[in-house]
Amino acid sequence: MAQAQLGGGEKRVEAQHSKGKLTARERIHFLMDEGSFEEIGMLVTHRSTDFGLDKQKILGDGVVTGYGTVHGRLTYVFAQDFTVLGGSLAEAHAEKICKIMDLAMKNGAPVIGLNDSGGARIQEGVVSLGGYADIFYRNTLASGVIPQFSAIMGPCAGGAVYSPALTDFIMMVEKTSYMFVTGPNVVKTVTHEEVSSEELGGATAHATKSGVTHFTYENEIACIEGVKRLLSYVPQNCEEEPPQLEYKAADETRTALNDIIPDNPNQPYDIREVIEGTVDENSFYEVHKDFAGNIVVGFARIGGRSIGIVANQPAYLAGAYGGAYDVMNSKHIGADMNYAWPSAEIAVMGAKGAAEIIFKKEIKEADDHEAKLKEKEQEYAHIFANPYRAAARGYIDEVIRPDQTREKLIRAVARVAFNRPNVRNAFRPKTVA
Ligand code: COA
Repeated sequence: MAQAQLGGGEKRVEAQHSKGKLTARERIHFLMDEGSFEEIGMLVTHRSTDFGLDKQKILGDGVVTGYGTVHGRLTYVFAQDFTVLGGSLAEAHAEKICKIMDLAMKNGAPVIGLNDSGGARIQEGVVSLGGYADIFYRNTLASGVIPQFSAIMGPCAGGAVYSPALTDFIMMVEKTSYMFVTGPNVVKTVTHEEVSSEELGGATAHATKSGVTHFTYENEIACIEGVKRLLSYVPQNCEEEPPQLEYKAADETRTALNDIIPDNPNQPYDIREVIEGTVDENSFYEVHKDFAGNIVVGFARIGGRSIGIVANQPAYLAGAYGGAYDVMNSKHIGADMNYAWPSAEIAVMGAKGAAEIIFKKEIKEADDHEAKLKEKEQEYAHIFANPYRAAARGYIDEVIRPDQTREKLIRAVARVAFNRPNVRNAFRPKTVA
């Protein structure tokens, strides 16, 4: 067991540290509650003999696996050890990961992958690919049943990135982690393009361009802390409720919300101010912070309960109008409660655009086109650019002052039947065969 703890040996561990990276065991140490980790399969070795592998049998086969607790909750983990054959994945390595995933599914607990791998172990050929397929299959079985998070903590290539992409959340470390199907050298050989690792699959590229990663962090410790924070918002499995923090009822009026929306509807504002002003203090954890700026998503808590937020962002590309009413959790697609602020405009399009179309003839025939357009714009705005038409139909349950938002949401969220899926399913529209 002492031999297994050494991984790929002192020199390779030093090389890992010199790149600003931790070893697999150090990462697990920072992730799990102190003294809670139980390692499984420490003495597993590969069974291959080709290309000198018979002389490179290393206990554990390049991945540390086991279970323990994070903030007191059962969590399964595997951490690839780059010091052993580059953390490459082959038959035995894959079997260890599959065992952990099976246990996590049987026991209804999250599985965290700390990935640092050169992909399929080249010397083991198709057996390595088979191992990956076994993992991908389990990723799909576990999807929607238990949470699966992937922290990318090194240069992950090939199969090593397909599995994380099937999991619920991906975290990357800036400057030391990469995700690509093949590295820059292969890209150059095949397409004759020169591209750096950072451009091809660095944390910034995946946070801003591809959207593959949901979170990026300055260093590995911050990344592991991020994994722990995210775990605190989610349930252990699809049958349980997320953890609830203690909440003491207080005056929930938030007058600051009254001043965020500018008087001029064409002037943008930052929706994050509305979110921060509504949810429990410091509880908003933004997902995809640097991707698709016109929508803001994340987790938060309200009255101690874990919630998800999906918000249009007017400060970026004008956020959205019209169809946004439908898709942003309208009553028609299943929302339980719908509130509107008095300044809300729930209409097909802005008043000016609408007036230009429906009053085209009148405006054209008027002596003063501009004055007529203004008059018609105001007429349209008066009738439609408000929440009262929707409220009259019951599409909006209540028009509330901004400062009441937090209180209303705390009450509404507390009454939603989170943990009664059978009751909720009974009201879902049935699919016609
Ligand atoms: N299979 C077997 N061994 C591998 C491996 C793989 N897929 N990837 C890396 N290794 C080994 C290297 O041979 C090296 O071994 P050594 O220390 O005995 O010389 C060790 O892991 C470290 O790799 P190295 O290339 O020195 O590290 P690096 O930080 O410079 O580069 C990678 C890391 C991942 C970018 C690079 O190793 C690479 O491109 N690997 C292949 C990626 C790939 O295309 N995999 C197959 C796709 S499924």
